[in-house]
Amino acid sequence: MSKIRFGIIGAGAISQGAAIELAGMAEVEVVAIADPSLERANALADKAKIAKRYASGEELIADPTIDAIYVAVPNKFHAPLAAAALKAGKHVILDKPFALSLAEAEGVAAAAKSSGKLLMLGMNQRFAQPMQRIRRLVMDGVLGEVYHGKAFWVRRAGSPKQGTWFTRKELAGGGALLDIGVHVLDLGCWLMGNWKPVAVTGRAYTKLGQRGLGEGGWGMSEKTDAPFDVDDFATALITFADGATLSLDASWVLHQKEGDRNGVQLHGSEGGATTNPCELFRFGDGKGSYRVDQNPFAEPLWAHGSRFRNFVLAILGKEAPAVTVAESLVVQKIIDGIYESTRTGREVRLG
Ligand SMILES: NC(=O)c1ccc[n+]([C@@H]2O[C@H](COP(=O)([O-])OP(=O)(O)OC[C@H]3O[C@@H](n4cnc5c(N)ncnc54)[C@H](O)[C@@H]3O)[C@@H](O)[C@H]2O)c1
Repeated sequence: MSKIRFGIIGAGAISQGAAIELAGMAEVEVVAIADPSLERANALADKAKIAKRYASGEELIADPTIDAIYVAVPNKFHAPLAAAALKAGKHVILDKPFALSLAEAEGVAAAAKSSGKLLMLGMNQRFAQPMQRIRRLVMDGVLGEVYHGKAFWVRRAGSPKQGTWFTRKELAGGGALLDIGVHVLDLGCWLMGNWKPVAVTGRAYTKLGQRGLGEGGWGMSEKTDAPFDVDDFATALITFADGATLSLDASWVLHQKEGDRNGVQLHGSEGGATTNPCELFRFGDGKGSYRVDQNPFAEPLWAHGSRFRNFVLAILGKEAPAVTVAESLVVQKIIDGIYESTRTGREVRLG
């Protein structure tokens, strides 16, 4: 069988490992990479042995030899590039977040539907072993009715390089919430198996980052003098149709004891669980003792632990996509709701 011919748009920090992983897959040939920084495109192409280098995503999308595209660029360009690639008949794996708004994300979803090509958000965290195990335990009913979850990714001083696209609203659309909150929000809904949010109350703050505090240095893009005008911390409470709730905290910069704390905790009628460290909590012998199982065994959902492997196997019809477009639209809707709730000071109804 002929190989799936891949193009990569964006030669920044996240593409470094992605290009090597894709290039190492037997079913894949990475044929091209695009980045307006030809220096970064060339360096990564040389490292991953990629023949063609383009100065724009549009040129790569126009290459008729390409079957599938990984999009890993500043958030503002996610929706336009993903939609254009789908319209050109390419399968797309898009890094998070989906888009700058639900309306944009819906446009990409519509392009996927009419092209018949696969669109998948690259939610890599779902593939981590603890996430797979806890999801399996929930699916097997071990936790009973999961009525509350806590999703958190709180960094004390972990802002991407300030003045790069990450900290500019115009290019990123948002800060900590869109960058890392999106991961644990997706995980929270997925682990709970709950995709019907009906309301959200949230607040996004900019209290420290705009003072130049808390730079952690992520990303490879160039710094500028542009002001930091995105959220450095966001918090929210999401209510689902069945009455379950999920709390969310995401920070790049926040005064707190720990440098970085992230994961999802679940609370159910028969037990609780946490992903990091991976633990299951239950009453023990019925006489008041309490059990904490570390690394509880559960059959992994995927033999591999890779979003790219899943995406490729899904193109080949050998695995279902692990992340559906419908789920990713729900995540985007909640994020829009948190920013709207911040603006209005009110709860936002979602459905
Ligand atoms: N899944 C994860 O864990 C994870 C981790 C980091 C980043 N990301 C996502 O990956 C994307 C890229 O992040 P990064 O850390 O690599 O950023 P980065 O700043 O290191 O790199 C971004 C690259 O995109 C290039 N670029 C800018 N505009 C472009 C355009 N219109 N077309 C093509 N290339 C363009 C830049 O020149 C740069 O090389 C972001 O959407 C980010 O949210 C995901």
